[in-house]
Amino acid sequence: MCGIVGVIGGKPAAPIILEALKRLEYRGYDSAGVATLSHGDIVRRRAEGKLFNLEKALDSHPLDGTIGIGHTRWATHGAPTERNAHPHATERVAIVHNGIIENFRDLRERLTAGGAVFQTETDSEVVAHLVTHYLDKGLAPRQAAAAALKELEGAFALGIIFKDEDDLLIGARRGSPLAVGYGVHAMYLGSDAFALAPMTNRVSFLEEGDWVEITREGAVFHNADDDIVERPIRITDVSTALVDKGNHRHFMAKEIFEQPEVIGHTLANYVNPVDETLRLPKLPIDLATVPHITIIACGTASYAGLVAKYWFERFARISVEVDIASEFRYREAALPAGGLAIFISQSGETADTLAALRYCKAHGQTILSIVNVAESSIARDSDVIMRTHAGPEIGVASTKAFTCQLVALAALAIGTGLARGTIDAADEPRLVRTLLETPRHVAEMLSRDSEIHALAGEIAKVRDVLYLGRGHFFPIALEGALKLKEISYIHAEGYAAGELKHGPIALVDENVPVIVIAPVDALYEKTISNMQEVIARGGKVVLISDREGLDRAGDQVWAKIEMPKVDPLIAPIIAAIPVQLLAYHAAVAKGTDVDQPRNLAKSVTVE
Ligand code: F6R
Repeated sequence: MCGIVGVIGGKPAAPIILEALKRLEYRGYDSAGVATLSHGDIVRRRAEGKLFNLEKALDSHPLDGTIGIGHTRWATHGAPTERNAHPHATERVAIVHNGIIENFRDLRERLTAGGAVFQTETDSEVVAHLVTHYLDKGLAPRQAAAAALKELEGAFALGIIFKDEDDLLIGARRGSPLAVGYGVHAMYLGSDAFALAPMTNRVSFLEEGDWVEITREGAVFHNADDDIVERPIRITDVSTALVDKGNHRHFMAKEIFEQPEVIGHTLANYVNPVDETLRLPKLPIDLATVPHITIIACGTASYAGLVAKYWFERFARISVEVDIASEFRYREAALPAGGLAIFISQSGETADTLAALRYCKAHGQTILSIVNVAESSIARDSDVIMRTHAGPEIGVASTKAFTCQLVALAALAIGTGLARGTIDAADEPRLVRTLLETPRHVAEMLSRDSEIHALAGEIAKVRDVLYLGRGHFFPIALEGALKLKEISYIHAEGYAAGELKHGPIALVDENVPVIVIAPVDALYEKTISNMQEVIARGGKVVLISDREGLDRAGDQVWAKIEMPKVDPLIAPIIAAIPVQLLAYHAAVAKGTDVDQPRNLAKSVTVE
């Protein structure tokens, strides 16, 4: 995952940047670079591979200058070469970038038509040219950066320096985290507080949509509307822990808010944004002819599998069975020869999932696993791995691993559909573009945190909660209920909305909130009818839907949570965010041990 560093002070910047980049190595990277201002000019050193190579380049050709930016690049758009390494620069601007610029193709076309000459195939370079474009139009650096930011779509973090501006470093955050460090006659910018720890423990975190002007005197923060805003300075304690909580109270909150970034990183492995194609690992079987798919996992990971069942059936018209590992392993399931078995696990160590994997292997299935921990037992025992790049998940309740599992599975389902001819090849670019929009929409959903927080205060007071959904929102209802019960200890159940009248409706009264997940899609009306059945019995409904869905649902709904309007393909991923936030805030309100709830373990290595 890319890492960003910026330095502005009285000492040579390059060695400080290098030191900070070393602390971002844990995120994973395949090239690195530094840019400083030398006598007003932008100068750069970049290198393929590990920081050692950049260090050598800096030893043989040192960079002077007391202001600079640095980057560790984890290749997404374009190969991990020196040419594609950051910082990207024009004569007037150098930038470092983490994330995805979704509209880079349009911007690039426009800027090229205006005379810009691009050196790389990266999405990031467009930022340097766009800021330059505004400088050329006569805007001052701060205004040029602000104008460029308004045109960028996607989820990202940025660091920017300017030719002849020895006292200005700009940072910006939309989706990907960014921290500002306060030193003595020096200021810093970093992807996390850990990168800045050798220089300072006084840190402010940019909030979603913020951009910041950093000078040697301090930092001026702006929100997305360019208003000046205050961001508190926090004293961090990051010297010992490699992974810290950032400006969050719990790891779970940090992990929820990391989702735009880590979903982007996971997607980067499975789609090529430049030519808008999928890039899936090679399988030892042909997806075009595979007779059957078995998906096996536990808990939250099994709900990711259940969402994937809807995708595989819809996109690839293939029969799929989803099973809970602890049941499957002893069931002596009959498996068709030559089938594909998909195992989903954050830890890669879940004992039941591993046992089920071995059963499938012994019964002639090809084993594909979706794991977060690359060196895990499940990963080692598989024929093919699709890693999620969620980073370490510390909170016991799985959040970011779940949504990363979902994007990997969505890519696989689409790839299977393309292989089988059930998706027209002409649709591939549109589907890839839709997947690439996920981080942005997740960030948009996260921006509604304070509303969900307020509602969670009410949920925290009740004893029971029901969650309802249809189609691929049914597994999200199950996941919402699991999240709530495991961290807040409130009893919660998830049901398929249509199943309500076959029993669970007996539970409905004015004391049981019913959370209905129903963005507008082909099944919306049906779910809303089930919702009306709840309201008719005095039930208190919380509706999670898009603007249109909320408006159409009328005013008898007790509370509403608005989701952005998104393509149905990614709607279940976006819908996972409000149920995570609701559970988190309800648990905090109840004062439970959110990161380590009672009786639970992060990695379940026993049956
Ligand atoms: C719930 C949760 C668990 C895990 C399950 C599987 O929030 O975290 O239900 O999803 O124990 O764990 P992994 O994915 O490590 O196999």
